[in-house]
Amino acid sequence: IKKIAVLTSGGDAPGMNAAIRAVVRSCAYHNLECIGVYRGYEGLIEGDFKELDARSVKNIINRGGTFLKSARSDGFRTKEGRAEAFKQLKNANIDALVTIGGDGTFKGAIVFNEEFDFPIVGLPGTIDNDINGTDFTIGYDTALNTVVEAIDKIRDTANSHNRLFLVEVMGRDAGDIAINAGIGAGAEEILIPEQNMGRDRLVASLKRSKLSGKSSSIVVVSEGDQIGKNIFGLAEYIRENLEDYECKVTVLGHIQRGGAPSCYDRVLASRLGVGAVDALLNGERDVMIGIVHNKVVSVDFVESLKGANNIDEDLIRVADITSI
Ligand code: F6P
Repeated sequence: IKKIAVLTSGGDAPGMNAAIRAVVRSCAYHNLECIGVYRGYEGLIEGDFKELDARSVKNIINRGGTFLKSARSDGFRTKEGRAEAFKQLKNANIDALVTIGGDGTFKGAIVFNEEFDFPIVGLPGTIDNDINGTDFTIGYDTALNTVVEAIDKIRDTANSHNRLFLVEVMGRDAGDIAINAGIGAGAEEILIPEQNMGRDRLVASLKRSKLSGKSSSIVVVSEGDQIGKNIFGLAEYIRENLEDYECKVTVLGHIQRGGAPSCYDRVLASRLGVGAVDALLNGERDVMIGIVHNKVVSVDFVESLKGANNIDEDLIRVADITSI
C-alpha cells in the first residue's frame, strides 16, 4: 500500500476532523501518500480529491464538523455510481480507503468491497453511538455534553416556572444519547426506543413525582421512541391528562452535532485514525476500527452492523432509582 484516501460520510460528528488528521499524519509517518475525498461517497464518484500532507491538517483537531465535508450519497447506492467511484480510485492510483461515518457508510463499504474487492477500513463517526463492536463512536461524548449543557439551562427556567419540559434528543433508533444525557442531567423520565413506556405509565409516573413534592420535571425523549416520535402530540396528551402542569417542548436538533469535540472524542478519534492506517498496513480490510475496554480493536464490517441497540439494563435501573 502506497496511497490511502480518506473520506467522511453520513451525518457529521464532532471529532471527525481529529480522525482525518490522525489518518493523514499516520500516512506521513509511514511515508504513504494521502488523498482527501470531499463530500463522502459523492466526491468519490466525482473524483473530488485533494492531496493532503501533515501540514494540511493543522489547526483542525479542535474544530467540529468535517473539513472534508460530508454527504448522504444517492449515487453510491447505484451500481453505476459505485463503478464510477472505483474508476476514480484506480485513475488516482489509490490503494486503500478509510471511511469515517456510521452504519450507512459501512453498508456502502461492504457492497463496494463485494463488487470491486477494494481494501477499506472504517472508523465509527456518529453522535448516535449505534455501532456494534465499539464501546463508543466518535462524536458521541461531545453530543452528550452538548445535551447535558442544554438541559441544565432548560432546568433553570423549568424550575422557575414550575413547568414540565419534554426535551427531544437525537439518536435515530438508538437511545444511548437519551439515557446517558438523561441520567447526567437528572431527568425525571427518559423515553428510549429500546423500551416502550407507554403514554399512560408516563403520565402516572409524572403524577407520582409531582405528589412527592417535585415542582418541575424534565422528560428526555429520544427521537426514535415510540410514543415520543410525535413529541407535540405527546405534550398535548400530557396537558389533557395532567392538570395544573404546564407542558413545554424543546427539540434540541442539530446543535447536538456541532461544536468543538470533547477531549475524549479527540483522543478517541486520534487513536482510531492511527489504528486504521496500522490495520491497512497489516493487510486488514473490510473492518471497522473501534474501542473496546479502552483497547483499539478491529471488527468485521458485517459485525459492526449487528444489534447495536442494546441499552444496559443497569443504566435503566440507575435512571429509575436516581429520579425518584
Ligand atoms: O446519525 C446522526 C443523526 O444526527 C441522527 O441522530 C439523526 O436522526 C440524523 O442524523 C439526522 O439526519 P439529517 O442531518 O440528515 O437530518
